[in-house]
Amino acid sequence: MPELIRYAISDRVAVITIDNPPVNALSPAVWTGIDEAIARANADPQADAIVLIGAGSTFIAGADIKVFDVLKTRDDSMKRSDGTHALLRRMEDSAKPLVAAIHGNALGGGMEVAMSCHFRVAGKDAKVGQPEVLLGIIPGAGGTQRLPRLAGAELALTMCTDGKPVAAPKARAAGMIDEIIEGDLSSGAIAFAKAKAAKKETRKTRDIAVPADAVKGGLDACAKMRASLAKTARGMRAPFAVVDAVEFGLQNGFDKGSVRERELFADCVVSTESKALRHLFFAEREVAKIPDVPKDTPTGDIRRAAVVGAGTMGGGIAMNYANAGIPVLLKEIDQAALDRGMATIRKNYEVTMSKGKLTPEQVEKTIALITPTTSYDGFDQVDIVTEAVFENMDLKKATFAEIGKVTRPDCILASNSSTLDIDEFARASGRPAQVLGHHYFSPANVMKLLEIVRGRDTDKSVLSTSLKLAKRLNKVGVVVGNCFGFVANRMLAYYMREAYLLLEEGASVEQIDRVLTTFGLPVGPYGMQDIAGIDVGARIRHYLKSIGKSRAEGPQSEVPDRLYEMGRYGQKTGAGWYKYDAPGSRNRTSDPLIEQLAEEAATKRGIKRRPVADDEILARITTALANEGARVLDEGFATRAGDIDIVYVYGFGFPRQSGGPMFYADTVGLPTVLSRVKEYRDRFGDYWQPAPLLERLVKEGRGFYSEAPATVG
Ligand code: 3HC
Repeated sequence: MPELIRYAISDRVAVITIDNPPVNALSPAVWTGIDEAIARANADPQADAIVLIGAGSTFIAGADIKVFDVLKTRDDSMKRSDGTHALLRRMEDSAKPLVAAIHGNALGGGMEVAMSCHFRVAGKDAKVGQPEVLLGIIPGAGGTQRLPRLAGAELALTMCTDGKPVAAPKARAAGMIDEIIEGDLSSGAIAFAKAKAAKKETRKTRDIAVPADAVKGGLDACAKMRASLAKTARGMRAPFAVVDAVEFGLQNGFDKGSVRERELFADCVVSTESKALRHLFFAEREVAKIPDVPKDTPTGDIRRAAVVGAGTMGGGIAMNYANAGIPVLLKEIDQAALDRGMATIRKNYEVTMSKGKLTPEQVEKTIALITPTTSYDGFDQVDIVTEAVFENMDLKKATFAEIGKVTRPDCILASNSSTLDIDEFARASGRPAQVLGHHYFSPANVMKLLEIVRGRDTDKSVLSTSLKLAKRLNKVGVVVGNCFGFVANRMLAYYMREAYLLLEEGASVEQIDRVLTTFGLPVGPYGMQDIAGIDVGARIRHYLKSIGKSRAEGPQSEVPDRLYEMGRYGQKTGAGWYKYDAPGSRNRTSDPLIEQLAEEAATKRGIKRRPVADDEILARITTALANEGARVLDEGFATRAGDIDIVYVYGFGFPRQSGGPMFYADTVGLPTVLSRVKEYRDRFGDYWQPAPLLERLVKEGRGFYSEAPATVG
C-alpha cells in the first residue's frame, strides 16, 4: 500500500507529501500523518523549513466527507473537532517556517490546513475555497476564524456562504496566498521556504490582529449577509451558521470564536439538511457508474452533432452543443420554422449577454457553431443526432427511419422523447444498437439533468459515450430504463394526479403551488404546467387514451383537458392555470374560472369540496412520488434510489436540502409513508396501493438506503 504521508529532505527543507488518492481527502490517518510529519520535521536537524504538498492532481479537497457519517451526536462532533483544532494549533506553533504548496484545489479542511501553515504558495491554476455549506455544514477546522483574518470578513463571508472556489490570482490579491509560483511548484515552494528560514520568519494566522475598523466593517458585512440570505437561503441552517460563527469571532476573538465554530459545526453536521446534501454529493458521483457497463468500456468522441427539430427543446439542445464548442446542424422542415427557432436561440443568448454573462463576440462565436438547415446535407459527417420533433410516435418513427439512412453506421441516434418507447424508434432506424433516449428538461439549455434512456439493444459504448458527453455539456447524465415516461415523467404523472385531485377536493391552485414552493421547489405543479404548456400534457394524454392507457392509475381529472379545449395553454397563450398580463408574460394573477371548473369536476365525481390542510397537500404529493419511485426501483428502471433523487433534484428543482424524493421519504420514515399509502387507499380508493418494495423495506426495518435507519431524526 502506498504511504499516505511521505517525508523527504530536499535542500534542507522537509517536504511532506500527502498521497491519498484521488483527492487527498483528510481521513483520520491523513490528519495524524501530517501531525507526526510536522513534529518530525521540527526535530530533524537536516530541516530548516517545511513544505506541505499534495501528490497527484490536487493539494487537499477537504475532510473525508464519509467520515461525517460516524458523527451520530453533537458530542461526537465536538470531541472530534477539539482534536482537529488542537492539531491545527500545533501546526501553527511549528518553530520552523511551514509553507503550504497548493496545486489543484485547497478546499474545505484543505484550505483550513493551508491557513494553519505560516505561508501559502500556489500554482497559477490552483483554487481555494470553503465549500462546506454545499454539504450543509460550516468550515469546522477554524475556517470561519482564520479566513476573515487573511481575506477580510466580507470576502470570507461570501466564500463560506456561496461555497464557490476562488482562483489563485484573486486569492493572492486578497491575501490568502503569499506567492504564485510559475514553473515547478515543489521547487518554487522549497525556495520560498528556504528564504523564510533564512529570515527565521514564521506567522500564525490566528495571531493576525483585526483592527477596530475592520471589526466594525465585518459586523456590518454580517448583517448585510444575513439579510441577503433571508431571501436566498430561506429555511436552510448552514449559511446562517457561517455568519453566526464569523460574527462571534469578530466580537470575541479567535479562541472564543473557534469554540463557537465547533458548536455550530456540530449542530449542522447532525442535521437532516447536511445528511441530505452529503447524500446528494455521493449520489451525483454514483450515477455515472452503471453496474454492467465497466469503466473501461470504449467511448466515442463527439466532434460534430445534429439536432432535428428547432422548436423550444431542439433549439435548447443545439445551444448545449454550441456552448460546449461542438458544431451542430439544426434541421427543420421549412425555412419559416427554422428562422423562428434561430430567432429564439439568438434571443436567449442576448438575455444572457444583457446580464453580463457573455460578451457580444462570445454570442456571435457561439451562434456561429449552429448551422441552420432544411436538408440532411452534412448528416453523414456527424457523430450524434438528437431527434426533437413533436411528441408523436408516427412522426418520430419516420424521423428515425430517415436519420438511420443519412448518417454513418457508428453515429449515435438519440431521441428527446419524454415518454415514448425508445425501442420502437430503434426498430425504425434499422440500427437499434446505436439508438437511445437523451431526454432533456425544459429549458434544455438550463436544466442540468439528462435522462439517458437505455433501449433493449443499446450498445454499452453508446451509453458510456453519452455519460461522457453529458459531462461535456455540463449536465448530470442518469441512465434509466425504457418504461413509459422513463423515471422523471413516470413519477411526475403521480405527482400531477395528486395535484389535480387535491384541487377537485377543495385546495386551490395557489395553495398547492405555495405549499410546494415553501417546501423548496422553484415552482409548484400548476406554475410548472403553465411554463411547460398545458397542450403538451394534453397531447400525451390523448395519445395514451387512443391506445387504451393512462399515465397514472386512478381518476383522471378533467380540468386540464377543459383548459386545453379552451386554448388556455399557459404562459404562451396568456392564460392557463393562472391569468397572465399578456401571452409570454410571467406576471400572473389567479383566475376564478379555475375554481368554477374544479367545482364542476367535483360535482360530477360526487366529491363534496372541503378545506384541505397544507400538511395533507405535501404528504399526498411526496407520498405519491416515493411510492411510484419504489416501483420504478423495484422494476429495475432506475439503478439506485439515489439516481431517482438526482433526477428530481436536477430535472425539477426538488429541494436539495431534502435530498430528493426517496431520501426525503427515508427522513419521514418509511413506516409513516406506508401507513399514509394505506390511509389514502381507504379514503380514496384502490388506485392507491403500496409498492411491494415499500412493504418489504418496512418489514425489514430498512429505508431506501440500506445503511440508513428507516427513520432519521
Ligand atoms: N471526501 C471524500 N471523497 C471525496 C471528497 C471528499 N472531500 N472529494 C471528492 N471525493 C471523491 C468523490 O466522491 C469521487 O469518488 P469516486 O471516484 O469514488 O466517485 C472522487 O473523489 C473524485 O471526485 P469527483 O468525481 O468530484 O472529481 P472532480 O475532479 O470532478 O472534482 C473536486 C474534484 C473539485 C475536489 C470535487 O470532488 C469536490 O468538490 N469535492 C468536495 C470538496 C468539498 O466539499 N470539501 C469540503 C469537505 S467538508 C470539510 O472539509 C469540512 C472541514 O471544514 C472540517
